[in-house]
Amino acid sequence: MSSMRELAQQHLVPHFTKKAAWHSDGLPIIERGEGCYLYDTEGNEYLDGLAGLFCVNIGHGRSDLSAAAAKQMNTLAFSTNWGFAHPPAIEAASMIAGFAPGDMSETFFVSSGSEAVESAIKFARNYHVARGDEARYKVISRNWAYHGTTLGALSVTGIPNFRAPYLPALWDGTRHVPNTRQCISPEGTPAEDLSCVRAIEETIQAEGPETISMIIAEPIQNGGGALVPPVGYWQELRRICDQYGVLLVADEVICSFGRFGHWFASERHGVVPDMITFAKGVTSAYQPLGGVVIRGPLVQELYDSPFGSYVHGSTFGGHPVATAVAVANMSAMRDEGVMQHVLATEESFAAKLRAMGDAHRSVREVRGTGFFYAVDLCADSGTQRDLSTAQEEALRGGVLNRFVRDERMTVRPDDRGYTGLTISPPLIADGAVIDDLVARVDRVADRVDAWLANND
Ligand SMILES: Cc1ncc(COP(=O)(O)O)c(C=O)c1O
Repeated sequence: MSSMRELAQQHLVPHFTKKAAWHSDGLPIIERGEGCYLYDTEGNEYLDGLAGLFCVNIGHGRSDLSAAAAKQMNTLAFSTNWGFAHPPAIEAASMIAGFAPGDMSETFFVSSGSEAVESAIKFARNYHVARGDEARYKVISRNWAYHGTTLGALSVTGIPNFRAPYLPALWDGTRHVPNTRQCISPEGTPAEDLSCVRAIEETIQAEGPETISMIIAEPIQNGGGALVPPVGYWQELRRICDQYGVLLVADEVICSFGRFGHWFASERHGVVPDMITFAKGVTSAYQPLGGVVIRGPLVQELYDSPFGSYVHGSTFGGHPVATAVAVANMSAMRDEGVMQHVLATEESFAAKLRAMGDAHRSVREVRGTGFFYAVDLCADSGTQRDLSTAQEEALRGGVLNRFVRDERMTVRPDDRGYTGLTISPPLIADGAVIDDLVARVDRVADRVDAWLANND
């Protein structure tokens, strides 16, 4: 009889995984999760240093969430949000309105982050057309930003190799601008004078402000490696949007539901965007759910326009079981003080990672905040020498992945705009788990140091 691994290799098409990795004898088949740890079919334990994929915020194995799903399935397995409403979607949207900043009082549910981004693009366009602003359709997005893979979301994604095969099919309305790591202004430059801020304003002026629909940006950008923006950057985004009649969209598919100690990371930057896209952590990934939180007055304007509605929808958006699980997850996060835990722990987490990084020749920098970090690798941290092309290709091509796999953890070897590791554990990770995680990353960095010494 075929093993699970063989069956996977014969019948299951993986996401973004090279054939050699998928067809290796070591392909892990994960069958169980508990807290911050995962277990495969061979009984091996892994530290989930990525919270699944930035999403299992409350940790694995929560029977209260599975009970909420079962209860909802037995009560009402399915009904839509088209012309009807049902209690779990209403309750979830009401809770989100309570957590969201400012007058962000309305939520449109979908089933993934990519759909959330698509929905924001469509809402912005629908809103402008409803106001007679027919010319506004362009989207400003940042280099190396990941906003999803469906064609609309991929059109605003700024990762060249994810876009390359599909370029002829991508919508040409996006203008990509430098991200905050590509800012070339000297330290201490006021936010309004930063090169990455000026680039946005110059792009709007060059394109014609009357053609720009929205700006989309993550509060802390994942692509490029946990890019924390300079102080005042988000206030500048808000000012620019207000000045030119452009909608501001915070893509918080990773950043929301506690990753930075707040329900929404926009709150951390002190800015109320016009829309927030979310997914992942809203259910801690116990069910697929995403959505867009929208400022109430914008939705009202659309209702009161000749359209009379937001012209968009899907079968599973706001699914009763997914929204019931969202309510259970948000309630547990609130009652168990998950935000407070992240805020109380982030400083020591960052300090431990930075001390680890300082001890390695191969670690240029540890960036990030909250429960979200990138370990950026280089050839020599003393001289800030970059990896050679050959070193970069080898590390990205499997060497780093092997070192991480050998440590039995799920932190992500990353090649999007930098070479390094992305770290994003469940938000319930305590001091012992964080020590375990940092120790494993430390051993990976030891091996990178040694590998670089032999491959200089
Ligand atoms: C910021 C951001 N936006 C959108 C997406 C797309 O979400 P999904 O994979 O659920 O479609 C992701 C996924 O990681 C993301 O990180």
